[in-house]
Amino acid sequence: MKILGIESSCDETAAAVVEDGTTLLSNVIHSQIDIHTEYGGVVPEIAARSHLEVVGPVISKALAQANLEWSDIDAIAVTYAPGLIGSLLAGTLTGRGLAILHKKPLYPVHHVEAHVYANFITDQSDAVNLPLPSSAPTFPLLALIVSGNHTQLALFKNHGDYVLLGQTQDDAVGEAFDKVAKILGLPYPGGPSVAKAALAGDSSAHTIARARLQNPYDFSFSGPKTAVLRAIQREVGVDYTFPSHQLSQRLTQSQVNDFAASFQFSAVKTLVDATQKAYIEHSPASVVIAGGVAANTELRKQLSERLPIDVQYAPIQLCTDNGAMVASLGYFQSQTVSPSDPYVLSTLPRLSMNDTTWV
Ligand code: KG4
Ligand code: ZN
Repeated sequence: MKILGIESSCDETAAAVVEDGTTLLSNVIHSQIDIHTEYGGVVPEIAARSHLEVVGPVISKALAQANLEWSDIDAIAVTYAPGLIGSLLAGTLTGRGLAILHKKPLYPVHHVEAHVYANFITDQSDAVNLPLPSSAPTFPLLALIVSGNHTQLALFKNHGDYVLLGQTQDDAVGEAFDKVAKILGLPYPGGPSVAKAALAGDSSAHTIARARLQNPYDFSFSGPKTAVLRAIQREVGVDYTFPSHQLSQRLTQSQVNDFAASFQFSAVKTLVDATQKAYIEHSPASVVIAGGVAANTELRKQLSERLPIDVQYAPIQLCTDNGAMVASLGYFQSQTVSPSDPYVLSTLPRLSMNDTTWV
């Protein structure tokens, strides 16, 4: 079964064709990073407009790369929740229109859940060339989903059958990386910039306080981000009223590197502590990390040191937002649930993973 997946929930317009949830036939991603760089973050209205401009050509390219016609496509899967409303609408309305026009079943998928499904893609045609893992994860599956908008720890008993163990109560971990990068004067997107600066820094230079929450699987990254801000203000000798955007001019490169390394170590340790605790409590058969922050090498290092099994992750092109994960999840959904009515499907910008279990 060949499914076209469409993704447009944030700042990537992406489409891909995946066969039977596992074989990647094409993968096209149009990133808006260049457009948003000058603003230091995603501007929702600009993102929505850009999606509308490129979503059609991105889908055509995905079909062409797979060497397929519309008649070869069995179904369409589209991210309908959660995300930026204008961005979600661009993809969802396109998916609905195409499903009606080409008479295809339409499967609406949850973006955060879809990130986990990037790990089920283990095969590819000659049209794509990604360093894919050789085997898919097995159930029960512990998933740490870490992106610019989400930080969730979920235990999947089977496809679509999972419990959300915990999640961030404020900022997502990727968002905290992005904000700390801004304070340190490092370029957007902040995650890779902080990770790069951290390579040359000393992670023990500063102790960044970590949040303690009642549920050991919940997270909070807003406090640690402010802790970095206060530590920098102390370091350069100004008080808490000093504007954060002027701080980086007073830091040497070596000070920037040390703050980047200290923040990264602390944020990653928070994620790994919770994952290790969940591993001990639930003894999953597989552990996967998903989302843009899964690209972080410190996270991969600490997880491999602290867990007795190999943690699985997709190649970076499938860790960040993409259409392949959407198509893969769409396939597994199609095995148990009926497609949605393309005339009525609406977007749900704030839908929690708690409310989506589909089996
Ligand atoms: O999954 P994604 O592409 O988009 C969302 O759904 O949010 O994740 C993007 C996030 C950004 O916050 C970016 O700074 C972060 O992933 N990121 C990283 C790294 N690469 C990307 N964070 C830490 N270390 C990295 N190497
Ligand atoms: Zn994402």
